[in-house]
Amino acid sequence: MYKFLYSLLYYPVGGPVEQEEMKKQAAEKAVQYIEDGMVIGLGTGSTVEFAVKKIGEMVKGGLKITGIPTSLKTKRLATELKIPLIDLDDHTTIDITIDGADEVDSNLNLIKGGGGALTREKIIAFHSKKVIIIVDETKIVKGLGCDSFLPVEVTKFGWSATKKALEGLGCTGELRKIMDEAFITDNQNYIIDCDFGKITDAEALEKEINNIPGVLENGLFIGLADEVIVGSKQGMMTLERQDIVQ
Ligand code: A5P
Repeated sequence: MYKFLYSLLYYPVGGPVEQEEMKKQAAEKAVQYIEDGMVIGLGTGSTVEFAVKKIGEMVKGGLKITGIPTSLKTKRLATELKIPLIDLDDHTTIDITIDGADEVDSNLNLIKGGGGALTREKIIAFHSKKVIIIVDETKIVKGLGCDSFLPVEVTKFGWSATKKALEGLGCTGELRKIMDEAFITDNQNYIIDCDFGKITDAEALEKEINNIPGVLENGLFIGLADEVIVGSKQGMMTLERQDIVQ
């Protein structure tokens, strides 16, 4: 267990401006790990946007890196910023991935997928030598599932049968919608947001969910994060996998 983690849990939640500042802090710390010649996995979400913008400035200043985006949204932003990009299929090893998260627990396990990019994010994290997660303090939770739904990407074909099977694992599921229309992922699938309440065995649940036909991937990221940089009102904190005391 982290020495400092629980003190973070009791910090008062920041307002939106403060929260943006905390995200920026964490993002700007994470990009300091980037070196010339690296291949960088570019995550998705509002926190990562700060990192991508900073990387854009660094590239403009002469940094030589290539990026692999985890979503079409990040790809668009990186392209605007003239960050050179390659495909994972052309380069299967990534030096560092910087990504956000919806929840982080004391074992550095995560819930991701609030932006719907979880499948590409998980593929890219899996192939990365180092995964750095950047969050503000509101994302630190006592247990996964306490604050966020667990997003599950499913095929359009048979989605309601897949939802029923997911509910058989003990959740209530909701098809994600934007303005009354089903949300479509970059992979042309649907998302079922699952409310499991507090998840007690995330490792087992990740596998059980992925065993259901029609499920492409779920937002539980177990053992993938090497380091979590937390922006907080009291300053920044870095949590590393190697420091976890089981
Ligand atoms: C995208 O699918 C997600 O996994 C994001 O990384 C996660 O939702 C965090 O997003 P924010 O940084 O916007 O909170």
